[in-house]
Amino acid sequence: MLLEHVLQKPRAWLLAHDTDEIDPQAAAQFLTLCAERRQGKPMAQLIGYREFMQYRFLVTPDVLIPRPETELLVEVALKSIEQTSNPAILDLGTGSGAVAISLALLRPDALVVATDLSIPALSVAQQNAQALGARIQWWQGSWYEALPPEGRFDLIVSNPPYIASGDPHLSQGDLRFEPRAALTDGADGLSAIRLIVRGARAHLKAGGQLWLEHGYDQAEAVHKLLSDQGFSGVRSLQDLAGIARVTGGAL
Ligand SMILES: C[S@@+](CC[C@H](N)C(=O)[O-])C[C@H]1O[C@@H](n2cnc3c(N)ncnc32)[C@H](O)[C@@H]1O
Repeated sequence: MLLEHVLQKPRAWLLAHDTDEIDPQAAAQFLTLCAERRQGKPMAQLIGYREFMQYRFLVTPDVLIPRPETELLVEVALKSIEQTSNPAILDLGTGSGAVAISLALLRPDALVVATDLSIPALSVAQQNAQALGARIQWWQGSWYEALPPEGRFDLIVSNPPYIASGDPHLSQGDLRFEPRAALTDGADGLSAIRLIVRGARAHLKAGGQLWLEHGYDQAEAVHKLLSDQGFSGVRSLQDLAGIARVTGGAL
């Protein structure tokens, strides 16, 4: 994959030209990437992109690398607005823009608003939207504080930082190279989710839905937070590994 990236040739070409000499500059670039990979740098950061919902998203160290399990959030979000024309959708903590942009592309009649606290992340998201031809309204700031005062949504989605600050996974694998603020809330892992759930009533239309991605062991806690705030039909969906990953309901 690294050689495909350096030479900008598909795998089949590499196999057919396996005795060709490589230009020294390309060879040096390849060896540098191999060294970085050996040090653990994620593949998506080395090649600069990751596929998500069949779209190619630019990835830099400023954003979370879009995860396959987050496609479940997009799928349930799409289902929740199936019967709503011109839905207003809010994506809180958009990162690369993977969720917001996928929703905007798959529901071209939607008004999609996306926020992030991180200015560099928003810049990556904007580049992705432009490259993929998605129309999004961007706002910078902390959760709902980023939004202008008016406007309510049919759907709020978020994949917030949900890893507890002391979790050893933060110092393992790809996570070492991703922005800390994208991964952990710096607390018990549920603080961002609590804020998002508690603030939802002021930003959802009647009957609007909130769907959240969360940690492998947080479904019960998120279920309770939603029920305590008066959400109905609260349920969790499992990812391909059979882990309850996404929980939501309607107000
Ligand atoms: C787990 S990442 C999700 C990124 C993207 N939505 C995805 O699913 O790939 C969480 C995102 O929340 C953002 N974030 C962290 N704290 C925030 C806050 N207080 N307000 C808004 N966004 C925040 C991070 O910058 C990061 O982009």
